[in-house]
Amino acid sequence: MRIIHATDYDDMSKRAASYILERFKDIHTIGLATGGTPKGLYEQLIPFLQKQDLTNMHTVNLDEYVGLAPEHPNSYRQVMNKLLFNEVDIPLANTHLPNGVASDLEEECKRYEALIHFLGVDLQILGIGENGHIGFNEPGVDKNSKTHIVKLTEETREANSRYFKQREDVPTHAITMGIQTILASKEIVLLASGEHKAQAIYDMVHLEPNPTCPASFLKHHKNVTIIVDTKASVKLTG
Ligand code: PGA
Repeated sequence: MRIIHATDYDDMSKRAASYILERFKDIHTIGLATGGTPKGLYEQLIPFLQKQDLTNMHTVNLDEYVGLAPEHPNSYRQVMNKLLFNEVDIPLANTHLPNGVASDLEEECKRYEALIHFLGVDLQILGIGENGHIGFNEPGVDKNSKTHIVKLTEETREANSRYFKQREDVPTHAITMGIQTILASKEIVLLASGEHKAQAIYDMVHLEPNPTCPASFLKHHKNVTIIVDTKASVKLTG
């Protein structure tokens, strides 16, 4: 695991953008994440992406809520459209997320997993949950997991309730790429900012790979870079 230290959120976003732009010509499929963490990165990338021909580029997102239709304002499809896809000239058909309202969710997981393997992810962007989750792979997840349906922890629902009118509106389940799905990408870049992420970052870096901190499974991958700001790395640096 390589660690790039950034001063604050803005610096983390800029460093992440430069890192991706240096590799851009080799990225045909990029794995994307939602949440507050990558927002600044997307803002940094937009002016560059607006000048690119993205006709042959594909994106695959980590996860989607079960029960929210793609048109729902809180669906990750809508979040991604607003944050990134509507700002650049990428065919929406090339931007992939699981369908959280598929009539057969198990089949949908299989379809999404197969699609990811067909496309092959060149670089996957990740955030990290306060409980060490990556995607929606919550503590206890199987290290061999593929795309699957998860029950969200109350901690995760609480953390995400800031985007919803009321806490009860936060879905209880999601479809997420599994640990194996994430580890199949050629390269992984994980971003973290803020003191509330410091324990998860410490556990990811120092614990042997184990399900209590799903991000610790990233140690099984040979090409992982983490970009952390001062507050998120406070337990690493003492
Ligand atoms: P955040 O979420 O970027 O909103 O902090 C990260 C995550 O839960 O993976």
